[in-house]
Amino acid sequence: METQIGNDSEYAASLLRQGQLVAIPTETVYGLAANALMPSAVLDIFRVKGRPAFDPLIVHVDNPDRISEYATHIPDEAWALAERFWPGPLTLVLQKATCIPDEVSSGLDTVGLRMPDHPITLELLKRTGFPLAAPSANPFGYISPTTAQHVHDQLQGKIPYILDGGPCRVGVESTIVGFEKDGPVIYRLGGLTVEDIRSVVPAVGMRVNASSDPRAPGMLKSHYAPRIPLFLGDVESLLSEHAGKRIGMLVFSDRHVSATPVEALQVLSPSGDVNEAAGRLFSAMRVLDNSGVDVVLAETVPDEGLGKAINDRLRRAAHCE
Ligand code: TXA
Ligand code: MG
Repeated sequence: METQIGNDSEYAASLLRQGQLVAIPTETVYGLAANALMPSAVLDIFRVKGRPAFDPLIVHVDNPDRISEYATHIPDEAWALAERFWPGPLTLVLQKATCIPDEVSSGLDTVGLRMPDHPITLELLKRTGFPLAAPSANPFGYISPTTAQHVHDQLQGKIPYILDGGPCRVGVESTIVGFEKDGPVIYRLGGLTVEDIRSVVPAVGMRVNASSDPRAPGMLKSHYAPRIPLFLGDVESLLSEHAGKRIGMLVFSDRHVSATPVEALQVLSPSGDVNEAAGRLFSAMRVLDNSGVDVVLAETVPDEGLGKAINDRLRRAAHCE
C-alpha cells in the first residue's frame, strides 16, 4: 500500500467511511484514526500500531454536546471542564454509552472523549459525522509523532493517507481526567496544565504514576522510549560517567549547554520557555535517536506548567531511573 500525505479532508473522510485508517493532526500529537463505531476498523488500529488489546483508545468528537451521545452518568465537573477547555488538550474518561464498541474501550465500562483543537481535523469530524477513535500514530511504545513526516517515517506502507496539518502546536499528549467516587482525578499529565484544571476543579486528585494500573495502561513504563538508551540527570555528571562514548545531549535552554563538545545536541527552548520546549520535545528525541550516538544524556526542565508533562515523558523515556 502506498501512503500519501495531503490536506484533502474529503478524501480522508471517504477512506474513513470505508473503514480504512487515516493519520490525523491534532494540537497535541498526530493520531491514527478509524471510525470509532466500526469494530473492524478499530481492531485495525491495534494491528497497525502493534498495540496490546488491553490499552483503550481515545474517541475524538467535534462538539461538547457529543458527551451525552457517547457517555452516561456525566458529572457536573466533566461538563464544566469540557465547557472551559474544549476544543483542547483534555481527555475526559466517562461511563461509556452502549454505542461505543468494547474494542474501543478494551472492555472497560468507560470511554475517553476529547474534542481536539485543530481546524482540519474538526472539519474532518464534521464531514464524517461519526467520532474517530485515535491513539497516537506511533508504533506501540515509541515516541509520539508531531509532524506528518514522523508518521510517514514509521507507518508508511501500512496506512493509505496522512492528513497533514503541519507541526503540532502543543507537542505532548492530552491531559487525561477521570471521575471516581471521591471526585475528579488526573490519570495522565499532558498538554493542559494541572494549574488550568485546578482553576475549574480545585479538588482534583492525581494518580499518574501507577504503571500497573489498568485505568491508565498508556502510562506503562515502556512508553515514549527511544531506541538509544536515554539517561536523565545532571548532564555534567552524566558526561563524566559516559566518557569515551558518542554522546547525544538534550537540554532545556541555552544556559544549560555544556562546554564539553558532544556528537549531537538538541536545545528544547533557547530562551527557556516550557511551552516551546513541549512543542519541540518529541522531534528532538527523534533527531537524537537517529543521530548515531551511543547514549542520550538529558536533563529535566522546570517543573511548572507544561514542564510537568515534559518531565513525565523524559522519566518514562529514561533507560534508568
Ligand atoms: O493527545 C492525545 O491524547 C493523543 C491525540 C491523538 O488525541 N492521543 C493519545 O492516545 O495520546 P494514546 O492512545 O496514545 O493514549 C491514550 C491513553 C491510553 O493509553 C489510556 O491510558 C488512556 O488514554 N485511556 C483511554 N481510554 C481510557 C479509559 N476508558 N480509561 C482509562 N484510560 C483510558
Ligand atoms: Mg500513545
